[in-house]
Amino acid sequence: MNDRVDPALRSAARWPSSGVNRVPFDIYLDKELYASEQAMLFKGETWNFAGLELEIPAVGDYKTGWIGDTPIVLVRSADEGFSAFVNRCAHRGATLCFDKRGHRQHRFSCVYHNWTYDLEGNLKSVAFHKGVRGQGGLPEDFDYGEHNLRKLRVESIAGLLFVTASSSTPSLSDYLGEKMSAHIRRIFNRPVRILGTYSQYMHNNWKLYMENVKDSYHASLLHLFFTTFRLNRLSMQGGLVLEGDGGHHISFSKMATETGATTEYDLEKLRAQNDQFALRDPRLLKSWPEFDDGITHAIQGVFPNLVVQQIQNSLALRLLVPRGPGECELFWILFGYADDTAEQTEVRVALSNLVGPAGLVSMEDGVIGNFVQRAIEPHAEGQTVLEMGGRGFESQDSRVSEASVRGFWNAYRKHMRI
Ligand code: FES
Ligand SMILES: [Fe+2]
Repeated sequence: MNDRVDPALRSAARWPSSGVNRVPFDIYLDKELYASEQAMLFKGETWNFAGLELEIPAVGDYKTGWIGDTPIVLVRSADEGFSAFVNRCAHRGATLCFDKRGHRQHRFSCVYHNWTYDLEGNLKSVAFHKGVRGQGGLPEDFDYGEHNLRKLRVESIAGLLFVTASSSTPSLSDYLGEKMSAHIRRIFNRPVRILGTYSQYMHNNWKLYMENVKDSYHASLLHLFFTTFRLNRLSMQGGLVLEGDGGHHISFSKMATETGATTEYDLEKLRAQNDQFALRDPRLLKSWPEFDDGITHAIQGVFPNLVVQQIQNSLALRLLVPRGPGECELFWILFGYADDTAEQTEVRVALSNLVGPAGLVSMEDGVIGNFVQRAIEPHAEGQTVLEMGGRGFESQDSRVSEASVRGFWNAYRKHMRI
């Protein structure tokens, strides 16, 4: 048996019989399982977000990124066409592109021996292929067509470009499903404008961060800011949307609908319920209704590693890149719309203080994964408990639930065959 698959099967033997309401702790630690995830999940039948069409507006513009932890290049290879390939020369494996973004006139050339590829990744020329003065060079039967860059499929939805390494991944629209596609179109309903980008490094397994994104139960408990200033509380109307294998989710709420506001929060005596604080700068609480549906908060997780964020008027994409079993890096793209007024842009920029590595809300999300990682590393035996909101992963009208976390594990087990 392939030794990359074997560890996954070992984990399967240890997966608790009760199913996705328990998760073995060593799933966040196992080095061989990490390698299997790269092969079976990120390079398997999944679509991975790679960038926005507007980031590479002209033919020849490219952006580097990752599929799992494998470096890739995404390029606009024609007016309406996009290509992607692994960022590794087919000759002896040198990195082709080093910049985050750039432009190439028709060709990608490798710095090592000058093998050259077109914008679709086809090998076009090899330096000294006929040798020098009739000596050396490539054999007569060398076939250029067999030495293209490792190509990836590219598909887009509403200006978001996704790539897959597998020829058997279903179409992007089938992969996302109707509800998830509709939500992406809801957010990307007109041309957007990027307001800023950055990344944050986290010292935890990538799956701990994705679980946190899918865990609507923690938001108003862990995040003091949300609850203190009544931005997002479980007493607001909201719910969870899942479909299919549960890998994708949307958690949403409507700020204007909070009723009986303090009752449950007061009864629980929460750390996050604190009336001693007030804001000196009220701009942080400013917002306007962004969508007609009244939804003020919507977090969408697209399996395996993309987050689409609407926190009032703070809009962002977050892409999580695994960096080994115990590390990951989160890439943020904060955006507004091209037709925003100057005042709307100012509100979005002010609200960006809520998110990111030092965000008034998100800073806890950057460390909570490590609070788990450091506690399980010395003692990996045991398992988590995921029984909030039942034991399944269907849509529900409550966010006091771990249904989306269970959905993530259901999809994970399907892809990993464990
Ligand atoms: S490694 Fe790229 S040309 Fe040799
Ligand atoms: Fe959070």
